[in-house]
Amino acid sequence: MVVVPDLMLNNGVTIPQLGFGVFQVPQAQTQRVVEDALGAGYRHIDTAAAYGNEAGVGAAIAASGIPREEIFVATKLRNGEHAIAAEAFEASRRALGVDVIDLYLIHWPVPSQGLFVDAWQAMEKIYAAGGVRAIGVSNFLPDHLDTLLAATTVVPAVNQVELHPTFQQGALCATFRAHGIAMEGYSPLGRGADLSSGTVTALAHKHGATPAQIVLGWHLGVGNIVIPKSTHLPRMRENLGAAQITLSADELEAMAALDSGTRMGADPAEAAFTQM
Ligand code: A2P
Repeated sequence: MVVVPDLMLNNGVTIPQLGFGVFQVPQAQTQRVVEDALGAGYRHIDTAAAYGNEAGVGAAIAASGIPREEIFVATKLRNGEHAIAAEAFEASRRALGVDVIDLYLIHWPVPSQGLFVDAWQAMEKIYAAGGVRAIGVSNFLPDHLDTLLAATTVVPAVNQVELHPTFQQGALCATFRAHGIAMEGYSPLGRGADLSSGTVTALAHKHGATPAQIVLGWHLGVGNIVIPKSTHLPRMRENLGAAQITLSADELEAMAALDSGTRMGADPAEAAFTQM
């Protein structure tokens, strides 16, 4: 079985650097998909209350027979529940069927709502009470972090943002890393679009790997936590195989040149999906 490296977060908790994401996996399919992922060897599952599939993740964990402490489970607070984070956390914990969640993230800052500091203070209490092993944020920009750090005590363990070869966010990553915050990438393959670049296909040929393995290997090489998703078992296995890819400094530099600063998803400065 492939050995996935662990990263140590700023509170000493370790997280498998390569995990499995279930964004857009329909609830009806989620148990089967996550059972496949666990069977393939993934030990880190990333979901969110807003994905509507936490119960499927929980059912798969229960059915797997894998000891609970061997699986790292991350979920996220809905945007519309910043003011009731304690209740929202309990609902996620019930849906997942676990006593302790490994990582709980604020899904989006939604600056127009002005509630993410309140949400964080509630999450600090959940953390202090032992309901969660680490707390973090998602889609945070440096000014959101400044607001949070000025008003609260616990430094986020993680910031999960859109990251892929054509959107590497070097300055943002450096700012958060300077605070000891690990960077985690969503849409790590650029929704598939970043797989056809000449640099990626040439490296794939050179390493006897697939383009997805090269892109994921690049994420691991630059220190990102990464959570590719696929509903297909062969691709789950392929993506996990990226843990065996080591790109040289020159190859990482060639990948760095693919950055075009082009975002595919929403801009966190404006995103206000309050229905989520
Ligand atoms: P599928 O679920 O049909 O396998 P991103 O994470 O950047 O948003 O990209 C996810 C998309 O990439 C999904 O639609 C997934 O499709 C596809 N995908 C996942 N793994 C691979 C892979 N190894 N090769 C090609 N496409 C992949």
